[in-house]
Amino acid sequence: MAEFTLPKNSVVGKGKTFSAAADAKNVRRFEIYRWDPDTGENPRIDIYELDMDHCGPMVLDAIIKIKNEIDSSLSFRRSCREGVCGSCAMNVNGKNTLACIHDMDLYTGPIKIYPLPHMAVVKDLVPDMTHFYAQYASIKPWLDTPTAPPAKTERLQSKEEREKLDGLYECVLCACCSTSCPSYWWNSERYLGPAVLLQAYRWIADSRDESIDARLDELEDPFKLYRCHTIMNCTDTCPKNLNPAKAIAEIKKLMVERKRD
Ligand code: SF4
Ligand code: SF4
Ligand code: FES
Repeated sequence: MAEFTLPKNSVVGKGKTFSAAADAKNVRRFEIYRWDPDTGENPRIDIYELDMDHCGPMVLDAIIKIKNEIDSSLSFRRSCREGVCGSCAMNVNGKNTLACIHDMDLYTGPIKIYPLPHMAVVKDLVPDMTHFYAQYASIKPWLDTPTAPPAKTERLQSKEEREKLDGLYECVLCACCSTSCPSYWWNSERYLGPAVLLQAYRWIADSRDESIDARLDELEDPFKLYRCHTIMNCTDTCPKNLNPAKAIAEIKKLMVERKRD
């Protein structure tokens, strides 16, 4: 995935520098995007130096240490700290990832941290997810079963049917993939993007769902689905090692197959 380098005329200015203690022996530099719209000021990059001998291994450990010990005004989202809630998604050294499961030893030199690209920023590293969640809601992310359930059992699946959901149900809706997708950058108002399309396929692939045709009808649209041009940034960046591009290809395949029938 491309690294994001600010243009020379960028309005992102230099911010404050918070130096490490003089006796720190293992110092690492963090360059973090800061913007508080309430102040009316332009965004800036603040620099924090941390003594890595007293910091956990993950990017989120460093951010939490900065907030707790150096600068409580830094804003970011996090909850589970183990790659399950999806809330700590951000751009680290040019790649979207979950900060809590990204080991800082993977990098040499300074660590540059920005909010997810091409999203409106609420403050600092917090993107506005409103539109992304509305798109998620639009695909009806639940089992749609108009028929009555069996009298004595749940709606059952064979082992093979259940296995079709592997690689789909693990998605934590972090939006790392969608915000790394050039098609989503330019058409996010109408293109659903890889995360939401992977979720759409999760329900299409579920043997218990009874609305597959209606789900495909909804997606049969030049923008919602067909803005994917198989650039594969989504699959390259997914911190859960999922393959949204493959899920999108499966939906397109079903579209073709049902036209043949
Ligand atoms: S597919 Fe991966 S990158 Fe995309 S939202 Fe799900 S977990 Fe995040
Ligand atoms: S494969 Fe499709 S969804 Fe993934 S980055 Fe490329 S255009 Fe976007
Ligand atoms: S804090 Fe939950 S995924 Fe990172």
